[in-house]
Amino acid sequence: MNKIHAAITAVNGYVPDYVLTNHELETMVETNDEWITTRTGIKERRILKGEGLGTSDMAVPAVNGLLKKRGIGADEIDLIIFCTSTPDRVFPATANILADKIGAKNAWGYDLQATCSGFLFGLATGSQFIESGKHKKVLVVGGDKMSSMIDYTDRATCIIFGDGCGAVLLEPNKEGYGVIDSVLKSDGSGVPFLHQKAGGSVKPAAHETIDNREHYLYQEGQSVFKFAVTNMAEVAAEVMERNNLKADDIDWLVPHQANKRIIDATATRTGVSPDKVIINIERYGNTTNGTLPLCLWEWEDKFKKGDNLILAAFGGGFTWGSIYLKWAY
Ligand code: UT7
Repeated sequence: MNKIHAAITAVNGYVPDYVLTNHELETMVETNDEWITTRTGIKERRILKGEGLGTSDMAVPAVNGLLKKRGIGADEIDLIIFCTSTPDRVFPATANILADKIGAKNAWGYDLQATCSGFLFGLATGSQFIESGKHKKVLVVGGDKMSSMIDYTDRATCIIFGDGCGAVLLEPNKEGYGVIDSVLKSDGSGVPFLHQKAGGSVKPAAHETIDNREHYLYQEGQSVFKFAVTNMAEVAAEVMERNNLKADDIDWLVPHQANKRIIDATATRTGVSPDKVIINIERYGNTTNGTLPLCLWEWEDKFKKGDNLILAAFGGGFTWGSIYLKWAY
């Protein structure tokens, strides 16, 4: 019997309507379009506006569109892995909330927290349930409402992040298409450089934590940049070497969209030519768990069956990794 691989059989995405441009940010903090563009590659990002809306509210249209594309009902989903750093609530899991909202009555699910590498970790984890034969349809959702934890008076972070969500469906494939290999890594010594200071069990929410603005994302940009620029590139090269893939064998490099300069470094290290590197950071900024599925969604029409894709990500924690997959349709 041929080995079962977990193939992506459908992908969809959703970004909110509101466009926060660099020019609007110029009116909010001391910054300018030229600085943001040259340092990050970002021109605009989307923001989820509206009282009482959370990350699951972006996942609902993304997943409903995906199910329609694939022509299946929500009740056919076995498992939902919701990769997010901005869950609707600390508990219960946003996967459960989503399952209820879309009517996935036969699914179980859980949230996966690995910051910007979350979708990659979710794809690798979800694949295991398919490869083992345990499940036939696994939904991997990646999304974040980053605007819910961004300090819009901090020019060093508010220019980077945006809101968005994407999802893929994994199904068994015995023809050699799907997730072939993954290299996943983490290093908790990176915590000081990118984290949320309060709101967890170490420092629960209090008047003092609010006054001190400790519920916002905290980042030491340069330290994170240095670690990211080397490690995302190295891990992508590692998964390629392990699978005897040369730059010419790669049809698409799908990098996490954190900073155009980090993307360029990854392309240079792997040798993949610029026309094969998927970039939409200029329109969405860093949507954390949303970047990779949003890239797959926007480039879906260009993919051909059998294309070799290298996905790579890096995030706070630190977490990083790369996945090699063969596109299945
Ligand atoms: O996906 C999660 C992982 N996160 C990342 O991958 C982020 C990695 N880090 C980065 O992308 C970059 O470090 C940033 C984009 C965050 C910052 O770029 P940088 O080139 O590292 O700038 P910097 O922090 O070294 O700041 C350079 C200067 C400073 O001024 P001085 O001290 O040289 O006078 C900053 O105060 O730029 C200033 N600056 C700004 N100026 C205009 C910082 N933010 C801004 C801004 N507009 N928005």
